[in-house]
Amino acid sequence: MPERQGTAATAKGLGRTAASQTLTSLPRVEASVDGFSRPLERPAISFVHVSKVYPAQPNKPALNDVTLDIHEGEFVFLVGQSGSGKSTFIRLLNRELVATSGQIFIGGTNLVTMRNWGIPKLRRNVGCVFQDFKLLPNKTTFENVSFALEVIGKHSAVIKTQVPEVLRLVGLYEKMDKMPDQLSGGEQQRVSIARAIVNRPPYLICDEPTGNLDPQTSLGIMRLLERINRTRTTVIVATHDREMVDNMRRRVIELENGRLVRDQDRGVYGFDV
Ligand SMILES: Nc1ncnc2c1ncn2[C@@H]1O[C@H](COP(=O)(O)OP(=O)(O)OP(=O)(O)O)[C@@H](O)[C@H]1O
Ligand SMILES: [Mg+2]
Repeated sequence: MPERQGTAATAKGLGRTAASQTLTSLPRVEASVDGFSRPLERPAISFVHVSKVYPAQPNKPALNDVTLDIHEGEFVFLVGQSGSGKSTFIRLLNRELVATSGQIFIGGTNLVTMRNWGIPKLRRNVGCVFQDFKLLPNKTTFENVSFALEVIGKHSAVIKTQVPEVLRLVGLYEKMDKMPDQLSGGEQQRVSIARAIVNRPPYLICDEPTGNLDPQTSLGIMRLLERINRTRTTVIVATHDREMVDNMRRRVIELENGRLVRDQDRGVYGFDV
């Protein structure tokens, strides 16, 4: 199991979660006035010896004994060859999948023991962005985003203020009446990001958000994700986008055949395809 590499200060023995207690990833600390160190916060997300085996491939775990912590407000890239387990990792976080063994905690909730009735609440807290946008083709930009609030019962007054606000944030205020087929790929992805964050979830998970976009457009999407992260949203991005990872110098987690093989602060993409 790789230790997290990097410059973040760490201190042994301060772990409060199961993952921390395995000492694979220790909490960040800051010096307090009396000279003692204290944990900044408990991890927002913990994977504790997590494995996922698909029935169709019983002898080849898609994730294999992964243990790591992600702290509130972090921006994390998830990299690895095709088939290394990135999407599996992402889909475990929104409970599209359930781990075969191990524990996953997010905001204090154990996703492995959580009952299905907890899923809607979880998904209100975990915004999701995918490679293929998943917009409703017969709805406008505004409606695609407002729909996400309607289905969770938000009042129209809230919708009328929050939707334009989020569309301004993603730079689509002027295009709120356009249909998806009147928008470029980058604009459609920005609609899907607006939809994912309009309810202001503390977590945003993205699976290849720039996979269908040209480099210039991808840069705009990454800058947007960075801006969202600056509002304390914890952002996890599975990606093949080498340029992006190398430019942004954020924490990089690398999977290989389902195993965690690298965990690096301010990392680079770092392997050949
Ligand atoms: N529904 C499924 N049934 C069986 N095996 C699956 C299923 N989904 C994924 N796998 C397998 O699990 C492993 C990890 O797949 P996953 O989709 O998580 O990889 P990935 O890193 O996201 O790949 P890519 O970069 O191509 O998107 C692969 O061996 C894949 O074939
Ligand atoms: Mg994938």
